[in-house]
Amino acid sequence: MKQNILLTGVSSGLGLAICRSLLQEGHQVFGISRSFSPALEKLQQAYPALLHWQSLDLAETALIHAQQLSALIPKGTPIHAFINNAALAYDDLITNLQLDPLQQLFAVNVLSPMMLSKLCIRNMLLHRTAGNLIHLSSISAHTGYKGLAMYAATKGALEAFSKNTAREWGSKGIRSNCIVAGFMETDMTASLSQEQKDRIYKRTSLKKATTIDSVVSTIRFLLSEGAGSITGQNLFVDSGTI
Ligand SMILES: NC(=O)c1ccc[n+]([C@@H]2O[C@H](COP(=O)([O-])OP(=O)(O)OC[C@H]3O[C@@H](n4cnc5c(N)ncnc54)[C@H](OP(=O)(O)O)[C@@H]3O)[C@@H](O)[C@H]2O)c1
Repeated sequence: MKQNILLTGVSSGLGLAICRSLLQEGHQVFGISRSFSPALEKLQQAYPALLHWQSLDLAETALIHAQQLSALIPKGTPIHAFINNAALAYDDLITNLQLDPLQQLFAVNVLSPMMLSKLCIRNMLLHRTAGNLIHLSSISAHTGYKGLAMYAATKGALEAFSKNTAREWGSKGIRSNCIVAGFMETDMTASLSQEQKDRIYKRTSLKKATTIDSVVSTIRFLLSEGAGSITGQNLFVDSGTI
């Protein structure tokens, strides 16, 4: 079935790859990011009828309300899935923690996704859609990495939110899952040195980065009818981090 999918963080990295894959499958994508990247522009030219985009800064959580969303998704449109992909990184020791960036981190990674989840679930209930919520989590929430405590805490919050969403709305057919991704080569990780990357790879069974393709395939699976009994789960796509 062709789906209407709200996807955050479409302008680069994993989000761009998810967007491309969904469009190739004929789904309609409602994308959010702050910038309209050249790569996203190419996709828009290739799929003008299927890709819709709105500039929105998810750090401004107060902007996440029904009227704002209806500027992107016309009233009366059923939302079949919400993919919460946009996120900020915050790499520092806890002893250097600053309140302002911490608040921004939680606004983008946790608060805005929770507000968007609310709007999507309301839409799903209104249209009686057995919808799907997918949150991008990180292996750092499970294994711990020096310098990632604040970032990992946002992902832990999402995992708890997702589990409880599944419990709360499962009786209406709404599913919620997290993908726990390992280290991927994207803008978010571009500043790491080869030595830092090698140290991360050493902690995986496969001794290499998680591929964007592997995460995208898992998302496609979760969106499919074949995944109809999967909810409240964390799916690890992380090269077997140990
Ligand atoms: N890369 C990894 O190794 C890794 C590992 C585990 C999990 N993850 C998770 O996977 C997801 C995708 O990460 P990625 O590596 O693809 O990141 P990325 O390359 O840095 O892309 C982040 C996306 O989020 C958007 N974004 C950031 N801040 C925003 C804001 N304030 N408002 C709206 N959009 C915003 C960016 O668009 P604009 O800049 O245009 O706004 C961009 O499209 C994230 O949830 C991340 O935590 C990544």
